[in-house]
Amino acid sequence: MTRSIRPLVAGNWKMNGMKADIVIASEVAKGYDAGLKAAVDLAICPPASLLITASVVLVGSRIATGGQDCSTQGSGAFTGEISAAMLADAGASFAIVGHSERRTLHGESNATVKAKAEAAQKALLVPIVCVGETKDEREAGKALAVVKKQLRGSIPDGATGATLVVAYEPVWAIGTGLTPTAADVAEMHEAIRAELGRLLGKAAAAGVRLLYGGSVKPSNAVELMNVANVDGALVGGASLKAEEFLAIARACG
Ligand code: 13P
Repeated sequence: MTRSIRPLVAGNWKMNGMKADIVIASEVAKGYDAGLKAAVDLAICPPASLLITASVVLVGSRIATGGQDCSTQGSGAFTGEISAAMLADAGASFAIVGHSERRTLHGESNATVKAKAEAAQKALLVPIVCVGETKDEREAGKALAVVKKQLRGSIPDGATGATLVVAYEPVWAIGTGLTPTAADVAEMHEAIRAELGRLLGKAAAAGVRLLYGGSVKPSNAVELMNVANVDGALVGGASLKAEEFLAIARACG
């Protein structure tokens, strides 16, 4: 953890969740007790179809909601797209942008991710900009270079700790049960903080929350969350179980 930064644990439900599953959000709210509230911020990013409902269910809980993507555009003839302002209107405070599933399956470039992050900021959402290397890139010793390049291409100019969150999600760790070693996470998060310092200035970079994502579970959360420069987690599968999500949050407390 970075002691001066309040950690954030965000759940990315991905394309999971029918309206009955809103109960997961209520259970997380029930378990977000005074001790946890004092220690860690929580956010739930359900599919767009459940965003308003989740925001309503979570009113008064101090748990934020977020979208999983947003359009680069403000409004208009963009069938199937959702604007950042629409997410904000549905109660969201965050928008995940540049998730590896979007980068890979939808061919999103760094420039697209940057435009989405800027669109989110314009709507007063905090973008959670995702970066991370593939297995081949790690094995070739290119992980740091790949992630730094993604940061240079995707981070909005002038961002600060109040307007930006970065999530390091190694592609090979997502949904696989595999995680990098604590030493590898430490090396990467230190490099991310340093690169943000070059891009945004040291003072701004010092306040940006750097989340780790990829197979975070209650069983590995304490080790991962105690790594220097890890300021929380972006959780996929385990965020669909309230008890597991809360246990991960407790690891930050
Ligand atoms: P898992 O926690 O299921 O590995 O997913 C991580 C992720 O992609 C969060 O955005």
